[in-house]
Amino acid sequence: MGSIRRTAVSLTVLLAVLACSPSNGSAAPTSARPAAGDAGAPGIGDADFPLDGNGGYDVAHYGLRLDYDPRKRHLNGAAAIQARATQRLSQFNLDLSGFDIGGVSVDDREATYSRSGDELTVIPAAPLAEGDRFTVKITYSGTPQPVKNATNLGTYGWIPTSDGAFVACEPNGARTWFPANDHPADKARFDFEITVPRGLTALANGELTGKPETSGGKTTFTWRERHPMVTYLATATLGRFELRQGKTAGGLRNLVAVDPEFRSSLDRVYTTTGAITDYWSTVFGAYPFSSTGGVVDNFPTGYALENQTKPMYGGFDPGESIIAHELAHQWFGNSLSIKRWRDLWLNEGFATYAEWLWSEHTGKGRAQETFDTTYARGADDPIWSYPPGRARPTDLFNESIYTRGAMTLHALRVAIGDPAFFRLLKEWNAQHRYEHVSTAQFIALAEKVSGKQLDKLFDAWLFQPRRPSLSS
Ligand code: TRP
Ligand code: ZN
Repeated sequence: MGSIRRTAVSLTVLLAVLACSPSNGSAAPTSARPAAGDAGAPGIGDADFPLDGNGGYDVAHYGLRLDYDPRKRHLNGAAAIQARATQRLSQFNLDLSGFDIGGVSVDDREATYSRSGDELTVIPAAPLAEGDRFTVKITYSGTPQPVKNATNLGTYGWIPTSDGAFVACEPNGARTWFPANDHPADKARFDFEITVPRGLTALANGELTGKPETSGGKTTFTWRERHPMVTYLATATLGRFELRQGKTAGGLRNLVAVDPEFRSSLDRVYTTTGAITDYWSTVFGAYPFSSTGGVVDNFPTGYALENQTKPMYGGFDPGESIIAHELAHQWFGNSLSIKRWRDLWLNEGFATYAEWLWSEHTGKGRAQETFDTTYARGADDPIWSYPPGRARPTDLFNESIYTRGAMTLHALRVAIGDPAFFRLLKEWNAQHRYEHVSTAQFIALAEKVSGKQLDKLFDAWLFQPRRPSLSS
């Protein structure tokens, strides 16, 4: 993209630009003032994260071309974002944290932009009409800065490592490496073209579309995620890796990559990943994506993230239970995604309950026993005062979202019986594959599948700040 910022902007834009201390240069009003309602909102409408995502358009595809130099910690990026306007748009926003912008265009016409915090405002040369499909291209460069947010699991986003980068973005760290509509309410398909120094491997979502190409001391990897994906599941983790590739017994492609420090885990993670992916396909319904796998890097988050098709394990040798958790997310969270962060238990409660189901399947203890042990915690245990049905923005990943969320599913299972419960899990997936879900929809489907009135049960388990009684 050769173009850089336009110098002519409208009066409204000029005022907006002045109001948010822009990176734009001088500006002179030339065109008619757009109606006030024509600006896309700076947030997608999640009141808990008012500036996350953006209004007025829907992204269909991100094309990301990245060149990263781990030694200098420098990223050169070019993003081509295909979207559809859902209203008339005189301007719209993207989320982007840091970087110098080289240029912005809309449908290959140079566009004006301004920046304020993580909000990048793009002003196309001419307003977009409702329903217009358009492509916004942005070139950018700089040193990615991960988000440091002590209340939501510490550091996330693009995290430099000794040999590359560990890229794990939940809840809103995609903006630390590409301009994004950075909220799970907008899913899109992704193509990645990632160039790294020769000898390193770049691992993104989906599958390689060709052999890595090396020239001039650099290697380029091209990956495609052909199914819809939320931005926080996108990754471009890179560094020194050892790979094992093949197919699961069920015939699904499987790719596991481990940092050399975790060489001894490679075969076990590969085999376990294949077996669990195949097993979940029988319990939850057909696997939603084109491949499975995992990445073990040496960056010690101590956490794992369910990156689409390639969950990532941060600095530890993952056991069966956490692999079962991250792979269950491929159904719960990745294929079926939440529209609002408050519904996070639909991801974490289900993935945690999947750990209990895996124990049950492998003869290591019934889910009922896990439930009983947790229930026996004192009445003053913090999970009883944090009802999991409403995740709090400053403490999204509270233990209650995971553990009491899983207990909710177990209480439901006991109330409606195994046949209805497992039919419900499959039906839930089948009905909402690749789409968005809410807690209200889950309760409605549970009542429909079971033919039982369940509002009291869900209210006690999801919404009351006290330990539910076992009789309800
Ligand atoms: N979703 C992850 C899990 O439960 C936890 C998580 C959230 C995470 N944000 C993260 C892990 C960022 C690593 C980095 O499995
Ligand atoms: Zn999880």
